[in-house]
Amino acid sequence: MSNLNPKEVAGTFAANLVQDGMTVGLGTGSTAWFAIQRLGERVREGLQMRAIPTSEASARQATELGIQLVGFDAVNHIDITIDGADEINAEFCMLKGGGGALLREKVVASITKRQICIVDPSKVVEFLGTFPLPVEVVPFGWPVVARHVEALGGSYTLRQTKDAEPTTYVTDNGNYILDCNLYPITDPPKLEQNLKMLPGVVEVGLFIDMAHTLIIGNPDGTCSLKDKETAN
Ligand code: A5P
Repeated sequence: MSNLNPKEVAGTFAANLVQDGMTVGLGTGSTAWFAIQRLGERVREGLQMRAIPTSEASARQATELGIQLVGFDAVNHIDITIDGADEINAEFCMLKGGGGALLREKVVASITKRQICIVDPSKVVEFLGTFPLPVEVVPFGWPVVARHVEALGGSYTLRQTKDAEPTTYVTDNGNYILDCNLYPITDPPKLEQNLKMLPGVVEVGLFIDMAHTLIIGNPDGTCSLKDKETAN
């Protein structure tokens, strides 16, 4: 029996959905990494596409693979974005930002016609929030936001780097991330609204009504594909 990496299975499957002439949003993280690798292969084979990355890391990977990058000045919409998630529920609400790219991921998702969420089976949950919710905050006054999170009944960790001597993690946008424990998130839209209105919050890792397609990769090499209209 085959024991493939479900992230690679999902990423490769999604990348194969891209067609000539498309503008593609490139996600961030270990699952999106596989999709970008496959897109690089397809570009070498002749696929005509251009891309907008959601992080400096994905931009570097794409550039090394010869994928043409464009900016928002050249693009009104994105045809397909392929991105991972830390969790996704039955309503296709996603919890994202484990890789720190939530702000750019949400900007890219906001102009995407078909947002494809690629995950392994462990990411599909009933209630969001077992994975701490990333909240991007301006460095100035981050403890103020942190205290608001506590007032909402949660706890938080100020994200650190994974270096031998950790320092405060800084996003591509020069901000900090609070990883917030707010499980169970029973009303994601309301929580997103409550957090976004706090002064100092730049973005919240809840993506509501943004995913159109969910692709779950399995270790046997198969994928389950669900479109939002048919999911429930
Ligand atoms: C990046 O900021 C995230 O939103 C990722 O999409 C998410 O963390 C999934 O990452 P993995 O594919 O590495 O699990």
